[in-house]
Amino acid sequence: MKKLIALLLAGVMTMSLLTACGGNDGAKADETVTDAAGAENEADSADAAGAESEANDADAAGTEDAADAESGADAEAGEVSEALADGVLTVGTNAEFPPFEYVDDNGEPDGFDVALIKAIGEKLGVEVEVENMEFESLVAAIGSKIDVAIAGMTVTDERKESVDFSDAYYDAVQYVIVPEGSDIASAADLAGKAIGVQLGTTGDFIATDDVEGSEVSRYNKAVDAVNDLINGRVDCVIIDKNPALVFESTFEGQVKAIPGEQFEFGVEEYAIAVPKGDAAMLSQVNKALEEIKADGTFDELVKQYIEN
Ligand code: ARG
Repeated sequence: MKKLIALLLAGVMTMSLLTACGGNDGAKADETVTDAAGAENEADSADAAGAESEANDADAAGTEDAADAESGADAEAGEVSEALADGVLTVGTNAEFPPFEYVDDNGEPDGFDVALIKAIGEKLGVEVEVENMEFESLVAAIGSKIDVAIAGMTVTDERKESVDFSDAYYDAVQYVIVPEGSDIASAADLAGKAIGVQLGTTGDFIATDDVEGSEVSRYNKAVDAVNDLINGRVDCVIIDKNPALVFESTFEGQVKAIPGEQFEFGVEEYAIAVPKGDAAMLSQVNKALEEIKADGTFDELVKQYIEN
């Protein structure tokens, strides 16, 4: 993304935010940390466009036309996002979330999401640069420091206030990791427990908002939560299914991962977050994703990174 364009866009976005929110967006950002549920409810009532794209997300077989309608803005067919004018797609992730993203033996971000976004970049004919950052910082960085984010990121109404989401590419659910021998087995057992989560994730929101009397410890790195579980500092860790399964096998014999269905956790959908209102970017990403699914690349990556 070119600096000048970024600055101009940021200016325009700030101005429209100021108009739309009465200059209250700073306060809102704080609110998301402390009161995720509140912010989400607000989104429910206020964001009709968000509801519309959610309805379309559920329709996995959405056509290209549907994808365009979903953005709420009109992208001319073949239009290229200004963010890609420099030939580079700058992607933010948080490489602490295997098998979707992790740092490989050479110190480079790798994983399913990283491979997927590189395949998307190839389809779009742009270079992909991956920035490894804190998960909590990703949403705010989209459209300035990074063009898009791919990070096993769940589509939520709250996030939709700040970004648009591509078509969903993976279904997920939260799991509960407990020490081997723990008797935590149902939603009722979580009440009053010390719960480890990754900061700003849906696991954090569940532990904070939905579990009565929970004492939540928030970590930047998921593995640190699991280490504290093994050290006895927390009673369980709430994290997405696939990372939970990876940690279960990494720490075999010490922890076990319990399916979230047992705790009545709902299904979540991962999608790529793009700058809000960048209809060209949204349709370019969706189109590339569709091609990658159609030509078998997607299934290959699932086999290579997730089912392996
Ligand atoms: N799916 C969860 C969320 O969107 C957790 C994602 C964490 N991803 C990561 N790369 N650390 O909140």
